[in-house]
Amino acid sequence: MSHAKGTNIVWHRPHVGRAERRAGRGHHSAVLWFTGLSGAGKSTVANLVDWRLHDRGIASYVLDGDNIRHGLNENLGFSAADRHENIRRIGEVAKLFVDAGVFAVTAFISPYRDDRDRVRHLLAADEFVEIHVDASLATCEERDPKGLYKKARAGEIKGFTGIDDPYEPPLAAELVLDANARDPEQLADEVVAYLDARGFLPKR
Ligand code: ADX
Repeated sequence: MSHAKGTNIVWHRPHVGRAERRAGRGHHSAVLWFTGLSGAGKSTVANLVDWRLHDRGIASYVLDGDNIRHGLNENLGFSAADRHENIRRIGEVAKLFVDAGVFAVTAFISPYRDDRDRVRHLLAADEFVEIHVDASLATCEERDPKGLYKKARAGEIKGFTGIDDPYEPPLAAELVLDANARDPEQLADEVVAYLDARGFLPKR
């Protein structure tokens, strides 16, 4: 059901469709949806994948939680409702990238399964690749790259994912990356190998 508030708005069917754009670029387009705890390595792996795709002449773009929260989503916090709205907007933006023939590489905790599934259902089956960057809380807390776990443990941040806020791991992600044992370069290689195997990328 649509919750649109605008009335008298008419959807303009674009003349140049997704198929034409993909044909022009010579590759598929999809959302690569990275999910996982803060500090799991989502942004690092997402940016390495982006770099590898770019290197092969493939159009991609990273949408990253911390960055998007400085701009488009600067009015959102970390309540369940705000995280839901964060993910809803990113899903819609990512879909526009797919329409434009570009791989949208997203790196958001996106802790709620329903929110991720809603994005999945905005897209066709071959346009949404859910990638769980699976690092244990212990691993993330030990790394603590931004010092936020320490603050959360000290009660200085409330509702921190993994500490006093939930993280619902995917039940059927297309890819699960073992971020406890493997380094980001290896994980990025795994993602690109997966995309190659699915025939999403031009042959090398
Ligand atoms: S999401 O839950 O809405 O998907 P998002 O990925 O955009 O989160 O932002 C997460 C980043 O915000 C974390 O990596 C961390 O740097 C910062 N952050 C600040 N407060 C919190 C919090 N309460 N829980 C999780 N991350 C937080």
